[in-house]
Amino acid sequence: MKSIIIANWKCNPGTLAEAEKLFNSLNKGVKNAKKVDVVICPPFVYLPYILNTKYKVHVGAQDCFWSEGAYTGEVSAAMLKNLGVEYVILGHSERRKNFGETEEMIGKKLQAARKSGLKPILCVEKASQIPQNCKDLIVAFEPASAISGGGAFNPYPLQKAREMRESLVDFPMVLYGGSVNSQNARDYIFEAGFEGLLAGKASLDSKEIIEIVKAIC
Ligand code: PGA
Repeated sequence: MKSIIIANWKCNPGTLAEAEKLFNSLNKGVKNAKKVDVVICPPFVYLPYILNTKYKVHVGAQDCFWSEGAYTGEVSAAMLKNLGVEYVILGHSERRKNFGETEEMIGKKLQAARKSGLKPILCVEKASQIPQNCKDLIVAFEPASAISGGGAFNPYPLQKAREMRESLVDFPMVLYGGSVNSQNARDYIFEAGFEGLLAGKASLDSKEIIEIVKAIC
């Protein structure tokens, strides 16, 4: 099974020109990575640019809505799928905290994503946030305390991360996220036993992401 590296750009970068530059150098740097699937998750507005290039990576969105209709500002799961997007991050702790996303809302998004054929990556802090009937789901364990927030890296203790991975024994694909960088990537994969990583801050530096991919290949 291939590892997965998710590059969550969050609400960055500020211009399309910067997004193009970041994407192009990253795409070039990981094109020969055979053992890893790299998934770039840019802000919605940059998706068409990326999907119209000859990209080697996989493409994901950072969120989706469960319906079309009178929902100003939202983007539906079906729209993303129709555009050519493959993955979608759901339930990120920043959405739970800053936008009041509840388990019920995340559940509806999850259902819509699956129905439209997107591959959801469900971010959780505890096992109880994973729906019962979703054993095939890609889960991302992301302790909020370890998320850099764009500031200093504050990685989660390896031993506790390993215990969390072991507790999710029924799930074949569990990623770790929170202050991932090229220095600690190997530890979370080879020592804590995760199948992949979700990087925020490090994903805005193409050299870092390329190093992360090389580290686990
Ligand atoms: P970080 O963010 O890598 O900057 O800690 C990870 C995330 O929030 O998904």
